[in-house]
Amino acid sequence: MTKLSVNINKIATLRNARGGNIPDLIKAAIDIQNFGADGITVHPRPDERHIKQKDVLDLSQIIRTEFNIEGYPSENFIKLVKTVKPHQVTLVPDPPEAITSNAGWDTIKNFSFLKDIITDLKEFGIRTSIFIDTNLDFIAKASEINCDRIELYTEPYAALFPINKEKAVAPFVEAANFANKIGIKINAGHDLNLQNLKYFNEKIPFLKEVSIGHALIADALYLGIEKTIAAYKELLE
Ligand code: PXP
Repeated sequence: MTKLSVNINKIATLRNARGGNIPDLIKAAIDIQNFGADGITVHPRPDERHIKQKDVLDLSQIIRTEFNIEGYPSENFIKLVKTVKPHQVTLVPDPPEAITSNAGWDTIKNFSFLKDIITDLKEFGIRTSIFIDTNLDFIAKASEINCDRIELYTEPYAALFPINKEKAVAPFVEAANFANKIGIKINAGHDLNLQNLKYFNEKIPFLKEVSIGHALIADALYLGIEKTIAAYKELLE
């Protein structure tokens, strides 16, 4: 079964809006795990506009499922993940000012940069993943970089899904089959939601994990977080 990692950035965004501790991010992470999520994802950014360094350290004490830390591999980021040693680190190429991740890595242009970081993190005992588009050349190069997984950037799928779901998923099926053939495991994320997740999961072979934040936290406003997690988990069965 595909694992559900809940990205809790938006809970931190809400908390930071008032400067206090409401909602309590740590309590939310504990509850989200108790309600059936298979993991927690965070994306600490240099400006700490949602997840702060301290949050990452505090979360590392209470996560009993899978901890996935994503981000641009700056010196500070690498230092932080080596302190915390999460189960998985997902490298994303977005610059600090980006609102959210908006593209995958060009693994050809960034080959030696990524290879050095991946080698270092793997030697440190952390599973590695690279955020990537469905470009087969980039996926082939990811295999030379020797990362354990790729995370397919699903925004283009989500954007086209309401218009033509077969066409939307086709490049992802091709990319997933190719990645599997060359020995890379597959995660996926970005703009997945209650409408488009089931079809994606049914069509994409070998999908290990999805990480979902924005839509899931928005759904929780209506359904509550416990029912929301159950609803997402049901779609992954
Ligand atoms: N994967 C990566 C690499 C991301 O940067 C994000 C957003 O932080 C997600 C997944 C989750 O995307 P969404 O919030 O749209 O579900």
